[in-house]
Amino acid sequence: MTHAIAYRAAILHSLADPAKVGLDASYAYYEDGVLVVADGHVRDIGPADTVLARQPADLEVIRFENQLITSGFIDTHIHFPQTEMIASYGEQLLDWLNNYTFPEERKFVDAAHAARVATLFLDELLRNGTTTAMVFGTVHKASVEAFFAESDKRNMRMIAGKVMMDRHAPDYLLDTPESGYADSKALIERWHNKGRQLYAVTPRFAPTSTAEQLSAAGKLLAEYEGVYLQTHLSENKQEIEWVRSLFPERKGYLDVYDHFGLLGERSVFAHAVHLEQEECERMGESDSVISFCPTSNLFLGSGLFDLPRMEEHRIRVGLGTDVGGGTSFSMLQTIAEAYKIQQLQQHKLHPIKALYLATLGGARALRLENKIGNLEVGKEADFLVLDLHATPLMDARMNNAHNLFEQLFVLMMLGDDRAIAETYIYGDCRYRRDQRQTAV
Ligand code: GUN
Ligand code: ZN
Repeated sequence: MTHAIAYRAAILHSLADPAKVGLDASYAYYEDGVLVVADGHVRDIGPADTVLARQPADLEVIRFENQLITSGFIDTHIHFPQTEMIASYGEQLLDWLNNYTFPEERKFVDAAHAARVATLFLDELLRNGTTTAMVFGTVHKASVEAFFAESDKRNMRMIAGKVMMDRHAPDYLLDTPESGYADSKALIERWHNKGRQLYAVTPRFAPTSTAEQLSAAGKLLAEYEGVYLQTHLSENKQEIEWVRSLFPERKGYLDVYDHFGLLGERSVFAHAVHLEQEECERMGESDSVISFCPTSNLFLGSGLFDLPRMEEHRIRVGLGTDVGGGTSFSMLQTIAEAYKIQQLQQHKLHPIKALYLATLGGARALRLENKIGNLEVGKEADFLVLDLHATPLMDARMNNAHNLFEQLFVLMMLGDDRAIAETYIYGDCRYRRDQRQTAV
């Protein structure tokens, strides 16, 4: 057993969805709190005097002044191979894919390239306080091998999968129903539940898979307990029309996935910006999940996601950056854009609700709420030390904030990677800002 360490600072974490239990019961805040970590798990948490009184007197205590501990951020949709093409100019989804994305993804035929980008990508997640993500690879099996090898080395809880794509992309990026199935199967056997790694069957989106391939994806889900599905859904109006023309026998976009058995409690659909009423109902009924990707929806001009509407249908929603369609790795920046998207629709996004979406809500979206998402006793110790005064402007504004909600809101509107002082994975510090390096 590793020895326990206590971290003393202000501590804030999410306990439940404010929409379900009300604001006050949805979070815990300790102005002078202690988090005790041992063997990669949370052993104790609470007000400093209470926790220290019940722990051994010789407990090692690390104290942070003016900083806030919270649980790690969870990004429910991101593409690691698009790291070096983020911020590509001028196009909406389909042209953006053809002109920028596919040529970039071609580079991942080279395993050394994939390993280098996986390293850069995971470092960037840590710098931004993201401790778990649901990640697309490319069509190349080796891209996902490289990703899991790096993630496993850092002991990060990650979900990833090889893209299945057998039509409507350049030849150099296509697999076949048979090879897509066999490669995915081999990756599942090797990586699913190895350490903290989990596998997601990953048909890119309906237009780039034949019926045979979508059927193979459904077969994999039926064959392996606990494996996820990730794909894209109703992101862009032209895309939706294209799906209708490719699958005229289906009721609509979601029905294509439904037909092949791809809906369910571990199925995460990115975007879902333009869902019909009937599709919302089917999402809720099948307990399928949406990843809301604000910076991407704005950057690619896709549309405005209506969060309250999805909640009315009892659909679980997580937040995603969708890099490189999204423009930031920072979940704080992602929250800021989510707030503005709700503003444009006359909806409010309370900072405590935003914290929920970026942590426990993300964990619930990924059915990992028993392991991660907050700092309750027994959870895996993925947590952050946040610097609320990271820049001169944040410092000045924070000193003019009068309560916790205001402070948290300022953090979310002005904060980014500069506000992440330290990132802990399974109890180990894997990133410390002031050393400007990652300890792996
Ligand atoms: N739809 C299909 N592929 C992609 C992708 O790589 N990014 C986004 N944002 N949407 C997609
Ligand atoms: Zn995406």
